[in-house]
Amino acid sequence: MNIIVTGGAGFIGSNFVFHMLEKYPDYRIVCVDALTYAGNLSTLKSVMDNKNFRFVKLDICDREGVYKLFEEEHPDMVVNFAAESHVDRSIENPEIFLQTNIIGTAVLMDACRKYGIKRYHQVSTDEVYGDLPLDRPDLFFHEDTPIHTSSPYSTSKASADLLVMAYHRTYGLPVTVSRCSNNYGPYQFPEKLIPLMIANALADKKLPVYGEGLNVRDWLYVGDHCKAIDLIIHKGTVGEVYNIGGHNEMKNIDIVKLICENLQKPESLIEHVTDRKGHDQRYAIDPTKIHNELGWLPETMFKDGIKMTIQWYLDNKEWWENIISGEYQNYYNEMYGKKEVIG
Ligand code: NAD
Ligand code: TYD
Repeated sequence: MNIIVTGGAGFIGSNFVFHMLEKYPDYRIVCVDALTYAGNLSTLKSVMDNKNFRFVKLDICDREGVYKLFEEEHPDMVVNFAAESHVDRSIENPEIFLQTNIIGTAVLMDACRKYGIKRYHQVSTDEVYGDLPLDRPDLFFHEDTPIHTSSPYSTSKASADLLVMAYHRTYGLPVTVSRCSNNYGPYQFPEKLIPLMIANALADKKLPVYGEGLNVRDWLYVGDHCKAIDLIIHKGTVGEVYNIGGHNEMKNIDIVKLICENLQKPESLIEHVTDRKGHDQRYAIDPTKIHNELGWLPETMFKDGIKMTIQWYLDNKEWWENIISGEYQNYYNEMYGKKEVIG
């Protein structure tokens, strides 16, 4: 089996590469990544010399480059993680999200059509369903919940999902789609809530909570997401969408307080700042379908996963300190400099 994994130098993609190389020693994994600000080659250093692994620096929007790679590799499957993934950045600059997340997906699927493929898997997000109200804990996202997006990021991901389903219906492309809730774990870029708060707390910097911090996210350990995708690409039904989530809903403020407690830092570091524009209230996945059809269940409890994650950031300071010492500082100053303290 030869699998092209796009976005494999990013957070979830790299965890998926590690999972696949370990679980399937006879598979070839070809990682395609443009190495944007979010991609980091040092993340992949432990597998660079693995004879079953190849890294290719390539933009998924580069049609010629993608076709050439298919001619060289004759992949059996493509798992597409490559994306612009940060909501705040999409609010500042939507265009690159449309380019990578929509056009890039189309280019990959065109290559699959041209050269043939056993499976094209699209890694999507629960954010395509929009949000749920905070006062209706009985509501969840199901696979047939209407697409109803809020941010340029979620809209670009939803557009890609629609395109994937259109390629299935129109051209018979053998696709699957997974929509997962918020992930946490090793190698997450420190612009996202959990690693940002860990990095700031360790530096005794303020912890910028948007608004009152009452927004709810449904957190899943990254390894459980990777196992779910592994199941879907091997046993999932072509043409189907699978929701992935662990029924682990938490308010942002509670996550930040938990990080303070684990790192023995005072909660006085917490600063409530101007809310995100169009901020989604609550995400909550109903994972019944993937459980019933494929037997998937999350294995890592949040209380254990968050400890493992904090420990990983403590043990791997070099990885994230390198990241936040560079261009990230400009991003941080620009993004957070204009936010006002609200309480
Ligand atoms: P990430 O930002 O950490 O990584 C994205 C990777 O894609 C980076 O390595 C980047 O260099 C690469 N990339 C970006 N543009 C590219 C392009 N044009 N060509 C090739 N490579 C490119 O993102 P992540 O958090 O690992 O998310 C991976 C996927 O999972 C995304 O599709 C995202 O929408 C989806 N997802 C993420 C979460 C989450 O909580 N992080 C939850 C559900 C779904
Ligand atoms: P994030 O990690 O960006 O994921 P997403 O927006 O895709 O769910 O943010 C998670 C939640 O944390 C979201 O409600 C926004 C909030 N948040 C903060 O309060 N402060 C921050 O500095 C960041 C990055 C996020």
